[in-house]
Amino acid sequence: MAISPPAPLAGAPLSDRLAATQSSPVRELLQIAMRPEIISLAGGLPAPDTFDVPGLRAAFDEVLAGPDAIRALQYSTTEGDPALRDRLAAFMAKRGLEVAGDDLLITTGSQQALGLIASALLNQGDVVLVEDPTYLAALQAFQLADLRAVAVPSDDFGPDPDALLEIARREGAKVAYLIPTFQNPTGRTMPHERRAAIAEAAAQAGLWLVEDDPYSALRLEGEDADLLAAYAPERTIVIQTLSKVLSPGLRIGYVRAPQALRGPLAVAKQAADLHTSTIAQLAAERWLATHDLSDHIAALAAHYRPRRDALLDGLREHLPAGTKLTEPEGGLFIWVELPEGHDAEAILPRALDRGVAFVPGKYFYAGEAPRGTLRVSFATATPEELREGAARLGAACAG
Ligand SMILES: Cc1ncc(COP(=O)(O)O)c(C=O)c1O
Repeated sequence: MAISPPAPLAGAPLSDRLAATQSSPVRELLQIAMRPEIISLAGGLPAPDTFDVPGLRAAFDEVLAGPDAIRALQYSTTEGDPALRDRLAAFMAKRGLEVAGDDLLITTGSQQALGLIASALLNQGDVVLVEDPTYLAALQAFQLADLRAVAVPSDDFGPDPDALLEIARREGAKVAYLIPTFQNPTGRTMPHERRAAIAEAAAQAGLWLVEDDPYSALRLEGEDADLLAAYAPERTIVIQTLSKVLSPGLRIGYVRAPQALRGPLAVAKQAADLHTSTIAQLAAERWLATHDLSDHIAALAAHYRPRRDALLDGLREHLPAGTKLTEPEGGLFIWVELPEGHDAEAILPRALDRGVAFVPGKYFYAGEAPRGTLRVSFATATPEELREGAARLGAACAG
């Protein structure tokens, strides 16, 4: 259900913070995109046909039928279930970072981690540096915490490290929020040299880096990159999630922070929701104990790869000459930059009339937004639908 923008209540005005926070326009667009006649390139939800329903059902059954049933239904520790943390740490450690279960804090989705970081590290009015464009709901979380998101100019390889340093110094920023791998919305990935340069700039500016990493596990081709946190472990908070590799409904995210921040983040989490659902944590742990996550991810990649290829082929064939596309090696998104003179917002109603939905790029910018950008996702449609969706989008661009 779409959430209406907050309106002042007679006699009970909303907080300034909430009144200033925009309801995501994408949620409303997604409602329209769900109509059966529309091919949706708009969403970012993982493909429902990849959910392991029998496996998760068995995991919940095992928890509730066994000796942990009472524990699963009880309050639990703020940091999270130790066995789950051990398993997630082993997964995170594959990406060049030393991490043990005790280093992790389980959060209620990675989205919660953004709010916890804001409340533990930043004061009202503080600046958080962001890529331009960036993840829309991170901008919302920062708005709700009354922070000022300041855009760092970015190119095809991520934010410009010199600009990051200069803007951090100018604005007195303490935190930079980055999505280094298969970024939402662009699909782009920072190469090794850029990660090293960003880590160096952060050290010079005294910045905490927040590495939001929901997509790196969804690699469709090529070699895994080390986490940005591997380049600057003492100043990077890395956030991962089971949402894109197992199920977003579980709401299980996990955070590895530098030692000094672990206590403060746990206090913020305690104040926010005491702990993440015990039963969801124990079921996730049972699933991970009885399945090979890497095999499951390989099956996800086999599912998404032909979809990415079909959408890329269709976009190359049907979008106007001079269009620039990202060609991501993973994740769920492709970013489109239409040639001069095209306006994605003006194209959207024509596209919906023709039966295809996408998200205009302007929603993802903290700074000034170019008119001709848009985000498309290959996550939920079939390859045939994706080719047809690209053809409809091309027709809508033509007028
Ligand atoms: C960049 C980014 N961060 C965080 C999230 C939120 O994920 P979670 O389900 O773990 O809260 C998403 C979901 O789309 C995302 O794209």
